[in-house]
Amino acid sequence: MGYRETYESWQNDPEGFWMEEAKAIDWAVPPTKALTDHGDNLFEWFADGMVNTCYNAVDRHVEQGRGDQVAIIHDSPITGTKEKITYAELQRRVAFLAGALAERGIRKGETVIIYMPMVPEALEAMLACARLGAIHSVVFGGFAAHELAVRIDDCKPRAIIAASCGLEPGRTVEYKPLLDGAIEQSAHKPEFCMILQREQHRCDMIEGRDVDWHEAQKEAKPAPYVPVEGNWPAYILYTSGTTGAPKGVVRPTGGHLVALNWTMKNIYNVDPGDVFWAASDVGWVVGHSYICYAPLIHGNTTIVFEGKPIGTPDAGTFWRVIEEHNVRSFFTAPTAIRAVKREDPKGEFVKKYDLSGLRALYLAGERADPDTIVWAQEMLGKPVYDHWWQTETGWTIAGNPAGLEALPVKIGSPTVPMPGYEVHILDEAGHPQKPGELGAIAVKLPLPPGTLPTLWNATERFVKSYLTTFPGYYETGDAGMMDEDGYLYIMARTDDVINVAGHRLSTGAMEEVLAGHPDVAECAVIGVSDALKGQSPIGFVCLSKGVNRPHEEIEKECVQRIRDQIGPVAAFKKALVVDRLPKTRSGKILRATMVKIADGDPFKMPATIDDPAILDEIKTALQRIGYAQD
Ligand code: COA
Ligand code: AMP
Repeated sequence: MGYRETYESWQNDPEGFWMEEAKAIDWAVPPTKALTDHGDNLFEWFADGMVNTCYNAVDRHVEQGRGDQVAIIHDSPITGTKEKITYAELQRRVAFLAGALAERGIRKGETVIIYMPMVPEALEAMLACARLGAIHSVVFGGFAAHELAVRIDDCKPRAIIAASCGLEPGRTVEYKPLLDGAIEQSAHKPEFCMILQREQHRCDMIEGRDVDWHEAQKEAKPAPYVPVEGNWPAYILYTSGTTGAPKGVVRPTGGHLVALNWTMKNIYNVDPGDVFWAASDVGWVVGHSYICYAPLIHGNTTIVFEGKPIGTPDAGTFWRVIEEHNVRSFFTAPTAIRAVKREDPKGEFVKKYDLSGLRALYLAGERADPDTIVWAQEMLGKPVYDHWWQTETGWTIAGNPAGLEALPVKIGSPTVPMPGYEVHILDEAGHPQKPGELGAIAVKLPLPPGTLPTLWNATERFVKSYLTTFPGYYETGDAGMMDEDGYLYIMARTDDVINVAGHRLSTGAMEEVLAGHPDVAECAVIGVSDALKGQSPIGFVCLSKGVNRPHEEIEKECVQRIRDQIGPVAAFKKALVVDRLPKTRSGKILRATMVKIADGDPFKMPATIDDPAILDEIKTALQRIGYAQD
C-alpha cells in the first residue's frame, strides 16, 4: 500500500488501524480495545493492555536471537572514545541498574529525574526506569539550576540520576554544582542521587544522599521488568509554553510503543538491524523518541553522539560518523546543517567520506529553509525530508513516509499528514481555510497513539492550552497552510514560543527572569531572525524611576541573569535598555511589530498603537547592535 491507501485505511477505521499495528509490540496482556473516550475530549489508547517498554526495547531482541547485535554506539569526538554495546550487554546493564534503583525504593509510580549528557548511561537510566514502571523526566544539560529546580518541584522525584559532568567543546560543564544548587532551591528534596562519575571530571559526593552509579550497579541484583497498563505514563518531558512554568508533557506507554515502532519503517525506512542516527540530545523529544526509544523498540542500532556538527573536530564529523558506522537514515536539525554549510559551503568534507550506505537525511525541530535543503540535496545526492512534529506528539504529524512511498518533495513543506492526524487549517473563528490560505494548524481529536493525553498533574492547563481555542481539535500552536495536494506548510508560532538552534524556548519565561531584575520596571523579549540558529532572543528593558546606573551594566546583568536562571541554551546575548515599549492603547506590547523592525522587514503600523514614535526609539536601539537595517 502507498501513502494514500494507508492514510485512507486509517481514516476508514482508525481503531482497527492501530490495533493492527499494536500486534508488532510484545504485550504481557494484549489490549482488547484501542481507544478509551473519557469525555470532554480526553482520550487514551490501549488502556487495558499490559506491557513493558524496556522489555520491548531490549529483552525481546535478546530473546529473539539478536543479543549480539549492537544496540548502542557511543561516538564521542570530544573525548576521542567509541564504544559499542550489544543488546545482550544492554539488557545486563539495564537490569542491574534497575535492581540498584529498586533496592533504593524506586518502583512503579515513582518519578525519577535524569540529568545527563550524551553518554549511553543516559539511555540505560531511561530504560531502567521504564523496566520498573517508574516515570522518568530527562532534563537537558544546558539548563541552569533554576530550571532543574522548577522540574524537581513539579514532578517530585524520589531520585535524581546525574553525571558528574557534560562536555561542551572547550568547556567541562560540571553538573554537580548545578544539581546541588537545584536541590537547594527546590522545596521538594529527592531521597537520593545516583551519580555517574566520568573520568573527565569526578565530583564530590554528599554522604548519605549520593550513590555511585557503578558501585550501586555492581552490588545490585538484576531487576525483572514490570508490565504496566497501556495508558501508564512512560515519561514526563517538560517543554516551553507561554509562561515561565514549563509544561510537563506526559507520554503514555502503549501508544508510544505502537506509534514509534510504526514510524521506523514507514517514515525512516529502516529495517531491524540497520543503523539509525538522530544527532540531537536526550534532553529533547527527538532524543527521547529517536536516540533512545524508537530505534531500540524496532531492533535498530542507535548512535549516541557526543559532539557538535562543527568544531569536533571539523565540519566533516557528521559524514565521518555516517561512513564509519554505516548509518542508513540520519536525522538532525536544520541549524546543524546550516552550521556545516557555513564552514564547508562547497562540501569538501562531504567528498572525503563514503556515504553510499546513507538513504536519506531527515530534518525537524524548526523550519527547514530552502537554501539548507537544496545545499544538503546537492552535496549529499540523497533525498532530504523535512518533517514536522512537537514534544507533545512525540512523533511526526506531517512528513514524507519514505518507507511506505517516497512522495515528491516540495521544498518548504514537510509534506503530508501521517495516519492518525487529521490536520485542519482554521481561521480565528475556527472555520476551515481554503487551500493556500493561512491559518492556525489544528488536529482533529482524538490525537493518535503516543501523543500526550494530558500534562503532568495539570489536566486543566492541558485543556486550556490545547483543547479550548478550537473545540474538538488539538491546537498545535503553529500557523501555516495546506496546498491543493494536501501538502502542509509551517510558517510561524501563534504563541510566545521561539526556536533557537532547534531548541524550543519561551520568551515569556525570559521576560519573567528579566522582570525579576531589581532595576527593571517592564520588559519584552522577542525572537529575531538568525542566519545560523533560525531565531535568537533580544530583550528590551525599561528601568524603574530613579535608577541611574550605566545602561551597559544593567544590560550585562540581564544577559547573565538569563544564563544563570534559564541556562546557556537560551543563547540570550543581547539586552537593550529603552525608555518605553511600543504598546496598543489597551496596553498590549507590540512584539510582532518589534520583530519586523529588528529583521528590517516592512510592517503595517498597527491601527491600535498608542504612540508610534516609540517604534523609532526601538529601531534606533536595535541599530546600535546591528539590527533593524533598512
Ligand atoms: N550542556 C551544557 N551546555 C550546553 C549544552 C549542554 N548539553 N548544549 C548547549 N550548551 C551551551 C553551549 O555550550 C553554548 O554555550 P556558550 O553560550 O557558552 O557558547 C550555549 O549552550 C548555546 O548552545 P548551542 O545553541 O548549541 O549553540 P552553539 O553556538 O554552541 O552551536 C550549533 C551552534 C548550530 C552548532 C548548535 O546549536 C547545534 O549543534 N545545534 C543542533 C541543535 C539540535 O540538535 N537541536 C535538537 C533539536 S532536534
Ligand atoms: P519541540 O516541541 O521542541 O519539538 O518544538 C516543536 C515546534 O518546533 C513546533 O511546534 C514548530 O513550531 C517547530 N518545528 C518543529 N519541526 C518543524 C518543521 N519541520 N518545520 C517548521 N517548524 C518546525
